[in-house]
Amino acid sequence: MMNDYKKTRLVLVVLSATFALLAVAFSLDLFGKPTPPRKLPLVDTDFLKTETWRRSYKDLVETKAPLDDFDCYACHEQGKKVVLKYDAKQQLVVPDEHSDIVMGHGTHGRNNNCFNCHNDENLLRLQPRDGRELKFEESTLLCGSCHGPTYRDWEAGMHGRTSGYWDRSLGPFKKQDCVNCHNPHSPKFPGRQPAPPPNYLREKRDDSDPPHTSP
Ligand code: HEC
Ligand code: HEC
Ligand code: HEC
Ligand code: HEC
Repeated sequence: MMNDYKKTRLVLVVLSATFALLAVAFSLDLFGKPTPPRKLPLVDTDFLKTETWRRSYKDLVETKAPLDDFDCYACHEQGKKVVLKYDAKQQLVVPDEHSDIVMGHGTHGRNNNCFNCHNDENLLRLQPRDGRELKFEESTLLCGSCHGPTYRDWEAGMHGRTSGYWDRSLGPFKKQDCVNCHNPHSPKFPGRQPAPPPNYLREKRDDSDPPHTSP
């Protein structure tokens, strides 16, 4: 006959072993049907960059980047007028030395003539219609001379981008120039992929679940 003490011990040993086995079974998730976690694609870090699309002449000067493209008289002869070349269809021919310049200003290339913007007597200056001579860093005034409404929107902060202090008594603010976003030679803003919307932390229930609505 087993005495009571031995009985109790046997029961405890059996119970402990059972719980230990259950613990292992649960931790290995033997009974559940675990759904594999959804793979969340990493977001391209380009979306986090705050720089503008283009670097203007002003930016190149500020960051002390090479300015060879702006050193017109390294190649052109001072005092000698540059003659524009056209093909048989009266389309401007951009020479190989300027092959980085692709002209396409306006839907029909209506503003492709170099000297609509550059001064033909001093290549180092820009030339709006009203006769002012502007430096490369003043190009926004050149754009404004033909794009009055957009320029006024820009001045009012409705077009372009203003960053810095809202309360101007606290610190500086900066308005981006037109050429920070538009290439003066082909100003149409290239389309961009929008950044993806945020992901749910909950798992998707099934494929018919719309991806980005509240549960
Ligand atoms: C690397 C040398 C080089 C530099 C730097 C350079 N050019 Fe030129 N450019 C040329 C050559 C070569 C031609 C073709 C021959 C010519 O017309 O004199 C030319 C042609 C031109 C033309 C006529 C284009 C056409 O379609 O007929 C214009 C306008 C012009 N350049 C403006 C400029 C301006 C403005 C700068 C400075 C912001 C500049 N270039 C800097 C080499 C250069
Ligand atoms: C709509 C006005 C406009 C027209 C038209 C135009 N340019 Fe420009 N160009 C500019 C402005 C503004 C800059 C300075 C941009 C900056 O700050 O990045 C510039 C910069 C340049 C530069 C130096 C930087 C670079 O991109 O190489 C050259 C060279 C040049 N232009 C040549 C030409 C030639 C050649 C033509 C004609 C085929 C022409 N441009 C037509 C406005 C114009
Ligand atoms: C001499 C006048 C003139 C100057 C200077 C000028 N533009 Fe234009 N721009 C035009 C014309 C003309 C069009 C064509 C409008 C159209 O096709 O309906 C145009 C079109 C545009 C467009 C629309 C392009 C598209 O394809 O949708 C943009 C953006 C633009 N310009 C930006 C600029 C910027 C930035 C500057 C300064 C670097 C500038 N422009 C300087 C005359 C000018
Ligand atoms: C921060 C970037 C940014 C700056 C700075 C900026 N633009 Fe734009 N601009 C855009 C974008 C983006 C569009 C819209 C393109 C689209 O809808 O396809 C645009 C559109 C335009 C158009 C096309 C016509 C229209 O209104 O839809 C013109 C012209 C234009 N900009 C001129 C200018 C001028 C002139 C300046 C400077 C006074 C300027 N932009 C400054 C980003 C900028």
